[in-house]
Amino acid sequence: MLQGKKILLGITGSIAAYKSIFLVRLLVKAGAEVKVIMTPAAKDFVTPLSLSTLSRNPVLTDLFDEQSWANHVMLGRWADVLLIAPLSANTLAKMASGQCDNLLLATYLSATCPVVVAPAMDEDMWHHPTAKENCKKLESFGNRVIPVEKGDLASGLHGDGRMAEPEQIVQYLVSNFFLTSPVAGKKAIVTAGPTYEPIDPVRFIGNHSSGKMGIAIAKELQHRGADVTLILGPTTYDFSENGIKLKRVTTAAEMYAASHDLFDRADIAIMAAAVADYSPVTAAAEKIKKKEDGLTVELVKTKDILKSLGEKKKPGQVLVGFALETNNEKQNALDKLTRKNADMIILNSLNDAGAGFGHDTNKITIFDKGGNEISFAAKPKSEVAKDIVDTIIRLYYA
Ligand code: CTP
Repeated sequence: MLQGKKILLGITGSIAAYKSIFLVRLLVKAGAEVKVIMTPAAKDFVTPLSLSTLSRNPVLTDLFDEQSWANHVMLGRWADVLLIAPLSANTLAKMASGQCDNLLLATYLSATCPVVVAPAMDEDMWHHPTAKENCKKLESFGNRVIPVEKGDLASGLHGDGRMAEPEQIVQYLVSNFFLTSPVAGKKAIVTAGPTYEPIDPVRFIGNHSSGKMGIAIAKELQHRGADVTLILGPTTYDFSENGIKLKRVTTAAEMYAASHDLFDRADIAIMAAAVADYSPVTAAAEKIKKKEDGLTVELVKTKDILKSLGEKKKPGQVLVGFALETNNEKQNALDKLTRKNADMIILNSLNDAGAGFGHDTNKITIFDKGGNEISFAAKPKSEVAKDIVDTIIRLYYA
């Protein structure tokens, strides 16, 4: 199940740490290579000796010892996943605020791999607003939180706050990170968001794209094991996901350059960005002052990224575009499919409720070169992203 996967397990000071012993055993039995980092408080609950014996690796606890410095950066790079279980209220708060007073926190702050936490605390602590806030913060950083369970607690109370069972944690890792998907290991680029075309230092031509759809697709591909680079225009939507490479751009020209830089090595390219079609011929160096009469800004056509990638596409590369339409939807989508030499065009119509810019939902129809037309109901963008990735797999990787 987890053959050859590298799991870095962080254990913090919580009574649920006794379950970590079972967790290590299950991970090793499933074929994973496990390294354990303990916080100083964790050692009051379980011994490093038990954990090093079961994990078959020395347990790491200190940032420094007399001889050497523990390389927390390399630990985070070594791991496929950093799992912190149990996560105490104290370490949760420190992670949320970026503190770094032990090896586990230093490793967390420098980890480039996905991070999953399984909190464990007594019911009243779990229900304190700070615990909720801090969990939300971790999620906003792109970390995953495995929900706590209801049950008997160390305090003698019965309620929320128990750490998920080790079997469930292992299952969570498998189904979220290690299911062998046909796109696992494939290189994917995704463009998302608007572009801003400067008129002068304070003004630009832009659009209402939030980037949410493209970001959801990038996340879905990453969850299926693809090596994803997200080329993201200037959206205000907060994005972070450990494991996705992020290239931020502002203008259509920058998005064009970044896409072309990466396309040759890409297996899949999904152009979900709402790229400006026109850009001012020149951006004024100084702020343009208001005059009595009107203002004419001369615009020049931007380069069509999707079309130019379609021209250089090699066999085996899958190129996907979007079509956001308000009328003649199907005809326009089919026209973009041929004109831009895409393999698939995903149509969303502004006439459909819950579709288009800014919404958390979308309603799409997929057209492909083989003549397929597949319509989906309106659903959250994360679910739409799953439909898109499933369709890519079915049509090109099955
Ligand atoms: N696109 C692109 N580069 C551009 C314009 C569009 O890569 N300069 C891509 C979009 O990311 C999308 C697809 O082309 O995947 C269709 O974009 P859309 O704006 O719907 O189409 P346009 O070609 O711009 O045509 P129109 O605006 O006339 O509908």
